[in-house]
Amino acid sequence: METSRNNRKLVNAEITGVGMYVPEKVLDNHYFETIVDTNDEWIVSRTGIKERRKEENGATSDMSAKAVMDLLKSKNMDPEEIDAIIVATVTPDMFFPATACLVQEKIGAKNAWGFDLSAACSGFLFALETGASLIQSGRHKKVVVVGADKMSSILDYTDRNTCIIFGDGAAAVLLEPTEDLDSGYIDSKLHCDGKGAEFLYMKGGGSLHPCSHESLDDGYHQLVQDGKTVFKEAVKGMADISVEIMERNNLKSEDVAYLVPHQANKRIIDATANRMGIPLEKAMLNIDRYGNTTAATIPLCLTEYYRAGKLKKGDNLILSAFGAGFTWGAIYIKWSLD
Ligand code: COA
Repeated sequence: METSRNNRKLVNAEITGVGMYVPEKVLDNHYFETIVDTNDEWIVSRTGIKERRKEENGATSDMSAKAVMDLLKSKNMDPEEIDAIIVATVTPDMFFPATACLVQEKIGAKNAWGFDLSAACSGFLFALETGASLIQSGRHKKVVVVGADKMSSILDYTDRNTCIIFGDGAAAVLLEPTEDLDSGYIDSKLHCDGKGAEFLYMKGGGSLHPCSHESLDDGYHQLVQDGKTVFKEAVKGMADISVEIMERNNLKSEDVAYLVPHQANKRIIDATANRMGIPLEKAMLNIDRYGNTTAATIPLCLTEYYRAGKLKKGDNLILSAFGAGFTWGAIYIKWSLD
């Protein structure tokens, strides 16, 4: 058995459970035809989205708590076993306390600490890296990583460029240690570049533009996007990083069971799969039903594909995302559940 310098056993992190929650309320493309100048054909052909969900009864912590409870139920696990909760979100219930604290209380995770992490559409990958490090340190045995966003709370429903794209949802994974260093979390490459800040943002409510009558009048509390620029950067960012992580792990296209891409636009996903040389059916998809749920897209995909019996132990998965910041990255995991 390998040991680290302080005699702790070297362990890797692996995903040992999944769970999800999506709201019941469905907004299809025809609904948007009634509120902005758009149509179903444009939305489907330019984005791949047919419908998305809207949370009407709760906040991000409520959606997150439901996703974690779903995970715990599927594992028959007691919430008191959780050591830490990380919530990736850009739509926290409020600035503080952290959404993770509210989730901790809602699910009764008495022995957990936790915090929120903000990396927009790359949030789940950044949180997974952080959670995996807590496990690899040897100091945590059960870490829950949540990706959750209530995008409907920050959308401008008069802006056809953005309101049709996003949806609400939450999903969670459980990370636990494994002594098999060739299983679970194998490699990752994450980036951020603040030069991208001007292309996708919500200006208001922070220390730069505190809430005021003017900030409300100027729409500072809603998401703004330069779609064309973000699209161009996302295609390059996601494709380059996915190919890089394949190459440095000597993975050929036939070795990859699935690309697990952030769901921003079906055309970005297709371009990434093409660059990786993998067929489109090997790219996980839920954008048609949920739109872009920001931090939730990737764990929602993992939960649905696993529960549909499409994943098997040992499968090579490349998780890949691009988002506001800019932030982007890819993570290579060997799936651990049968
Ligand atoms: N319905 C109909 N027309 C629309 C529309 C809608 N919902 N939204 C935009 N348009 C119009 C534009 O106003 C523009 O019209 P104009 O030429 O008269 O000005 C035209 O369609 C083309 O706009 P463009 O931005 O070039 O469209 P696009 O093909 O790039 O698609 C997005 C727009 C937003 C779908 C696309 O740019 C995108 O997906 N961007 C990245 C999104 C993303 O990844 N965001 C999250 C971070 S990961």
